[in-house]
Amino acid sequence: MKNLLAVSFVLAFAQAAHSADIEAGKQMAATVCAACHGANGVSVSDVAPHLAAQRAGYIEAQLKAYKEGTRKGQGTNAPAVLMNAVAAQLSAEDIANVAAWFAAQPGAAPGAKSALLANVVKTSVTFPEGYKDSFTKYHTINFPVLRQVRYYFANPVALAAAKAGKPLPDGSMIFIESYAAKLDADNKPVVGADGFYVADRLLQYSSMAREAGWGDDIPVLLRNENWNYAFFTPDKQRRTGVNQADCLACHKPLDKVSYLFTLKQLSDVK
Ligand code: HEC
Ligand code: HEC
Repeated sequence: MKNLLAVSFVLAFAQAAHSADIEAGKQMAATVCAACHGANGVSVSDVAPHLAAQRAGYIEAQLKAYKEGTRKGQGTNAPAVLMNAVAAQLSAEDIANVAAWFAAQPGAAPGAKSALLANVVKTSVTFPEGYKDSFTKYHTINFPVLRQVRYYFANPVALAAAKAGKPLPDGSMIFIESYAAKLDADNKPVVGADGFYVADRLLQYSSMAREAGWGDDIPVLLRNENWNYAFFTPDKQRRTGVNQADCLACHKPLDKVSYLFTLKQLSDVK
């Protein structure tokens, strides 16, 4: 009898030590995960899966695998890259708490979709009129799968900081022109004398820029200091309905290089 009591006491204690804090999980879900999965685990898009009513053990196992990199994405179009960036910042407690929250939510109805998080979608980047005169083109990349060629530009503030080996300060802007490549009779991109695809039709502009306060409304787990992101149509209109959470999550691990994938190319400009 005494032994039995001792055993049940140890079990109860072990359970208490591991029991998740569902309120803390709810809080994290509402501020961070909600940007893609919805606060109640009903996701915002076809790319992010529903988490509502998923088993806690499965959610925990996936988050650990993303964190450790055993479940991972590669390149620009792999959704798992976003989760590697998010999960890398979660503690074991965070994982247990948020898994308990989503596991306790009612499953999503067919076709259900959550709204994007307004504070994460909000961007302050505006179209840089006259950039062709004042910005420096510092890089070009061919995208074979997309059959695109992209030109990378930086404004004088960003260029000066990069060349001086300093972090890019407020006032910096990076701007990309994305073109469909000119195609030959076999539908293959035509390559110019410089080795890059010949540009045919402008598809869109992408941009990242920073000013004081621009990061304030973005949750810390997604925030890239003061950087905001935006896409613009060929007629210079900012695209709406873009989930800035995607941009922020994928660029987030690059905090040591001013959140830029192409900082080296920018620093190397002659
Ligand atoms: C920027 C968008 C974004 C944010 C923020 C985000 N996720 Fe995800 N999550 C995704 C995408 C996209 C996938 C699918 C990844 C893949 O293909 O592996 C995913 C997958 C997952 C999975 C695997 C689901 C399955 O069915 O295997 C779990 C679990 C998960 N996320 C939990 C979370 C939690 C918890 C948070 C908040 C701490 C969070 N995510 C924040 C976009 C996001
Ligand atoms: C899945 C990862 C991923 C996502 C999501 C993503 N990017 Fe990037 N981004 C990259 C990579 C990789 C590069 C490097 C060059 C390239 O592939 O264009 C890049 C480069 C850039 C650059 C040039 C500066 C730099 O970092 O080198 C800008 C500007 C940019 N992205 C804007 C955006 C915007 C705007 C969004 C969201 C609408 C976004 N990115 C979402 C991966 C991502």
